[in-house]
Amino acid sequence: MGLLETIQSGRQARPRRALVYGVQGVGKSSFAASSAKPIFIQTEDGLANIECDRLPLAKSTKEVLDAITALYGEEHDYRTVVVDSLDWLERMIWDDVCGEFGVKYLEKADGGYGKGYSYALPRWRTFLDGLDALREQRGMAVILIAHARAEKFQTPECTAHDRFAPRLHKLASALTQEWADEILFATYGAVSDPARVKTETPERVMRTSEGPTHVAKNRLGMPAELPLEWAAYDYYAQQAHPTTSSSSKGAEAHG
Ligand SMILES: Nc1ncnc2c1ncn2[C@@H]1O[C@H](COP(=O)(O)OP(=O)(O)O)[C@@H](O)[C@H]1O
Ligand SMILES: [Mg+2]
Repeated sequence: MGLLETIQSGRQARPRRALVYGVQGVGKSSFAASSAKPIFIQTEDGLANIECDRLPLAKSTKEVLDAITALYGEEHDYRTVVVDSLDWLERMIWDDVCGEFGVKYLEKADGGYGKGYSYALPRWRTFLDGLDALREQRGMAVILIAHARAEKFQTPECTAHDRFAPRLHKLASALTQEWADEILFATYGAVSDPARVKTETPERVMRTSEGPTHVAKNRLGMPAELPLEWAAYDYYAQQAHPTTSSSSKGAEAHG
């Protein structure tokens, strides 16, 4: 077959890769738990009160990769893999690199001057490649969860301000952000009515598009803000790719 015969056109419906980040308690894990047949790879405690299937708490990078390998090779009908959270995975990756160089802090690894952060990047790639394999071979969607931090953002006009971003080192953060199809910032909607401010819990929302206050992106034509509900994400995924069977109903099991 000639190369030109292999050209594909049109949009491809493939399982989504979402990075969801936000402050503690906003509802990130709950959001992921309501996705299609999720299985959690947990690196932090915090799922005790959430109804979901989860692998035992992973305490090392190897345990995380072993979990991915098991989901790749073993029989199951999970359709979404959730990694909760990347913050703790990052610590484990740093521990590995520090162990390799026999240093206490990553800043001192690989000759120092922060080179350890670049040195750690291939480990992130191995992790993301493993998730891609689950997606390609097992048809699983991926949800990565991270906490939020404020970072300095330099605008082209040379002013700088703080904005929210995933709480990861900038190199790992950039790699993961580029890999993800969607970056969703989970936060609370503003309650503008003063009479309601004190009495009502603000709505939990996700910001889906980049703004001056936060990092976000989507490839699904979503409105800038949506309720923090899986059904909302799934709706737009379905609109963009009608055959993406990412709702828990009526979908065939892959694998
Ligand atoms: N959409 C929601 N509406 C109301 N309560 C929620 C919602 N999402 C989560 N919660 C509650 O908020 C708490 C924290 O949720 P969780 O998903 O563990 O947050 P996170 O993972 O962001 O720390 C839990 O008690 C959960 O039941
Ligand atoms: Mg959580």
